[in-house]
Amino acid sequence: MTDNDSKAAASKMWGGRFAGGPAAIMRRINASIDFDRRLYAQDIRGSQAHCRMLAAQKMIGADDAAAILDGLERVLAEIEAGTFPFRAELEDIHMNVEARLAELIGEPAGRLHTARSRNDQVATDFRLWVRDAIDGMEAGLKDLVLALLDRAEEHAATVMPGFTHLQAAQPVTFGHHLMAYVEMIGRDRGRLVDARRRLNESPLGSAALAGTSFPIDREATARALGFDRPMRNSLDGVSDRDFALEFLSASAICAVHLSRLAEELVIWTSAQFRFVSLSDAFTTGSSIMPQKRNPDAAELIRAKTGRVIGDLSSLLIVMKGLPLAYSKDMQDDKEPVFEAADTMELAISAMAGMIRDLTVNEAVMAAAAGAGFTTATDIADWCVRALGMPFRRAHHVAGSLVKLAEDKGVGLEDLSLEDMQAVEPGITEEARAVLTVASSVASRTSQGGTAPVRVRAAIAEARARLAEEGR
Ligand code: ARG
Repeated sequence: MTDNDSKAAASKMWGGRFAGGPAAIMRRINASIDFDRRLYAQDIRGSQAHCRMLAAQKMIGADDAAAILDGLERVLAEIEAGTFPFRAELEDIHMNVEARLAELIGEPAGRLHTARSRNDQVATDFRLWVRDAIDGMEAGLKDLVLALLDRAEEHAATVMPGFTHLQAAQPVTFGHHLMAYVEMIGRDRGRLVDARRRLNESPLGSAALAGTSFPIDREATARALGFDRPMRNSLDGVSDRDFALEFLSASAICAVHLSRLAEELVIWTSAQFRFVSLSDAFTTGSSIMPQKRNPDAAELIRAKTGRVIGDLSSLLIVMKGLPLAYSKDMQDDKEPVFEAADTMELAISAMAGMIRDLTVNEAVMAAAAGAGFTTATDIADWCVRALGMPFRRAHHVAGSLVKLAEDKGVGLEDLSLEDMQAVEPGITEEARAVLTVASSVASRTSQGGTAPVRVRAAIAEARARLAEEGR
C-alpha cells in the first residue's frame, strides 16, 4: 500500500482529524494483516470452538451461535476462494474476520468476542499454526530419512574416504556416512516431537491476561482444538511464546544439519572430488562456462540456514525484554516463524530430492578411499593384535611405514614385504592383507562402526523404529 492509500485508509477510519502523515505511519507499523492472514484457518477454528462453548455454557443463545457458526463458514469460504476483502485499517486477521462476520450476519457477530481477548485469541491461533507446521516438518523429515535409508542400503558396502579436518582419515562406507545423517535427522524429529508435546496446551480462556468473570469451560475448548489441556496460568497463557522459540530452535539445529550435508554435496560434486553427481534435475548451468554443472540447490540450502538461525535470534531478542503479559512486540513473533517454516519446507524437500537424485561414482570414491595412506591405522592395529605390541609403539611402526611409502612415492599396499620387515621384522604377508580398503572397512565391526554388516544392521534397526512409530 502506498503512503497515499494508507492516508486514505486512516482518514476513513478516524475522520479528518487523523488524516495526517503520522496516522498513515501508525497504520503501517501497527497493521499485521499482510502476514497474519496466514492464521485465518486457525483463527476460524478457534472462534468456532469458542462459540460452541459459549452456547453450551448458555452465555449466548442457540440462534446466535448458529448464525455465528454459519457466518464463520462463509468467511472461511470467502478467504479460500480469494474473494475476502482484507482491510489494512482493520489491523489484523482477528479483526478482519470479526468485521466481515458482522457484515455477513449482523448483530450476533458482536457476541462472539464475549469472554475472549485478542491476546488469548492470537496465542491460540499461533499455537495451532505452529502445531501444524511441526507436523508438516516432521512429515518432510520422515521422507528425507526414507530417502537416506534407501541410498544407504544401496551403498552399504561402497567405500569412500572418511575425513577429519577434511583430510582423508580412514576408509568408511558411503552407507555409513548417510546413516550418520539418519541419526542427526532422527534427533531433529525428536526435538519436534518434544516441542509439540509442550506446545499442546490451550491458552484460550486466559482472556486479556487475568482470566474472565464469565462461566467459560476451558476444558471443552481445549479438547475441541486438539489440545491436551488448558494452560494453567492466564498470564503465562497470553505471554508465552516458548512454543515458537522451541520450533525455531529445533528448526535452526535441523537447518545446520541440512547445511552440513549440503556442504558435503558441494564438495563431493566438485571436479576435484567427483564422488557424486547430480542430474540436470538438481543442477544449473553457467551462462559463460559451458562445462559447469552447479549444485545450486545445495548451496541455497546452505545459505538459507542463515535465515533460520536469524529467525531464532530475532524472536529470542523480541521476547527477552518483555514484562508480563502481552506487549505489541509480540506481534512480531509471526514473520520469523513463517519464514523459518517456509524455508525448512523448501530445504527439506530439496535435500530429499537431491539424495534420491544423486549418482555415486563408486570407482572414484574407491580410489580416493585408499589414497593418502588411509589404512595406516589398520597396520598399527594388526601389530597390536598379531604381535602383542602396545598401541603407541604400533602407531610409531605404522608412521615409519607411511614415511617409507611417501619417500618411495607409492601406497602402503605397494610396499614389499622386505620393505616392511626393514621397519618391523615381525610383519608377515598376513599383515599386508589388512592394508586394502575393503578389509579395513570390513574389520570395523564394533558397535556403530562402518563395516557393511553393521551398516546393514543399522539400516534395518532404523527401518524398524520408523515402523514402530506408525503404530
Ligand atoms: N495482531 C496482534 C498480534 O498479533 C493481536 C493481539 C492484539 N492485542 C492487543 N492487545 N493489541 O499480537
